[in-house]
Amino acid sequence: MTLATEVPSPVFTPVLAREATARRIPVLKTERLVLHASCQRDVPVIVQLAGDRRVAENTARIPHPYTAADTEGLLASINQKGSETVFAIELDGALIGMSGLDPRTDGAELGYWLGVPFWGRGYATEAVRAVIDYAFGDLGHEVLQSGARVSNPASRRVLEKCGFQWTGVRLCRIRAINSAAPIDRFRLDRRLWASLKAWAQARQVA
Ligand SMILES: CC(C)(COP(=O)(O)OP(=O)(O)OC[C@H]1O[C@@H](n2cnc3c(N)ncnc32)[C@H](O)[C@@H]1OP(=O)(O)O)[C@@H](O)C(=O)NCCC(=O)NCCS
Repeated sequence: MTLATEVPSPVFTPVLAREATARRIPVLKTERLVLHASCQRDVPVIVQLAGDRRVAENTARIPHPYTAADTEGLLASINQKGSETVFAIELDGALIGMSGLDPRTDGAELGYWLGVPFWGRGYATEAVRAVIDYAFGDLGHEVLQSGARVSNPASRRVLEKCGFQWTGVRLCRIRAINSAAPIDRFRLDRRLWASLKAWAQARQVA
């Protein structure tokens, strides 16, 4: 953040600057989950869940080990004007994971992770579908992109269940392993998303 260099007067503190650039993040509700902006009190649970090597190694940017300072740095940088939009994923009032959209010139990058105890129950697909609807329906994105390590079939399946189409493989740096690894790349555009939504609605009416 560049806040320190933007302070125009002694009373304009970095805290006020952050409030001035913060974006309103809506609350998204699904059948079982609530998605909302995360806050300082989420730090310990994020550190615990994202600190699991099985989570970190399957994301591009989560370091391992993962510290409270890492999480605080993340929370300070997201959900600002022009920055990444990130939701905390909550089940029964407890944070179980996160999902975000990083704006890029060739289509926003969708990312997500869940704590290991919550894997295998369809929560990621449910949460990611809500984030996708928000990205196309509210933020006006035309294209979303995402990726999954080739060794991560669960993540690949989440993307497929959400309508993403495979576009190829490329190397990507994985911070937790301090190395690059092959990543399956996926893409979903607005027209395909709209078509899938219309198809689901037509089936509900029938
Ligand atoms: C990837 C991740 C989000 C999946 O979460 P989840 O809640 O278990 O996902 P879901 O239950 O919604 O869907 C998982 C799907 O993968 C399938 N799956 C799981 N393990 C699998 C495997 N080894 N081989 C093939 N399919 C597998 C499940 O059967 C399910 O598909 P189905 O509904 O058709 O049966 C979670 O494992 C995670 O956080 N991993 C670490 C971080 C990560 O990979 N993030 C994504 C990349 S940024």
